[in-house]
Amino acid sequence: MTRKPIMAGNWKMNIDHIEATGLVEKLHYTLVDKEWDPKKTDAVLIPPFTDLRTVRTLIDGDRLNFQLGAQNVSEHDNGAYTGEISTSMLTKLGVTYVVVGHSERRQYFGETDEIINAKAAKALSAGITPIICVGEGLDIRKEGTHVEYTLNQVRGTLANLTAEQVAGLVIAYEPVWAIGTGEVATPEDAQEVCGAIRQEVAALYDEATAESVRIQYGGSVKSGNVAQIMAQPDVDGCLVGGASLQPDEFAAIVRFYQLPA
Ligand code: 13P
Repeated sequence: MTRKPIMAGNWKMNIDHIEATGLVEKLHYTLVDKEWDPKKTDAVLIPPFTDLRTVRTLIDGDRLNFQLGAQNVSEHDNGAYTGEISTSMLTKLGVTYVVVGHSERRQYFGETDEIINAKAAKALSAGITPIICVGEGLDIRKEGTHVEYTLNQVRGTLANLTAEQVAGLVIAYEPVWAIGTGEVATPEDAQEVCGAIRQEVAALYDEATAESVRIQYGGSVKSGNVAQIMAQPDVDGCLVGGASLQPDEFAAIVRFYQLPA
């Protein structure tokens, strides 16, 4: 079976809704110029909440081949949760992906595997595809226990999800030491953990689920290293931070299949 590659641009807390218009249009025109074939890659834009409406309007108005994602979602339906955003608010804006458990949310906002699991389940029940983030910090990497550490996060964040749900979601392996540091994991590092994640999904569920789930690598992905990373058998896409703010860079990443590996 072939998994469709998925490139997702996580803008993090950058780009306001006015700046978003310029970024999305430049990205679109660059991709049109370079003859990107949207059948070959899913391209997901993940702006801050305040930009979602603007980006949605651009996608609909100009019929752009981008999908819309959010950076976080509440595990609650609605009510007295000041500052939170619900799945129904996101689905009303045509949001089809949501990042859950990014390492920055784990580190700065105390999100645990249990919370992330609840958010993933809530997203799935609303028809939104979660991009579940896992990955080790530098201390764990130095200890050499990064595979077991990451698989533990996989088990915790997938708890109680069905095989059908897992088959359709995305797991992003983002080693924390490679995020925003310019320190990119080697393609072999990415394959080691992404391959182990797929085997773990096979062990927890079955081979068909493991063959279907899409696994991304994230951490200092750029046009210059994306083709080598994507050449790995268990890497199905990338979750891109800094380079997704640069239209030329992100356009090249979306067209990774045209780059020399
Ligand atoms: P960078 O691509 O800036 O390293 O960020 C990766 C990331 O955290 C994407 O979610």
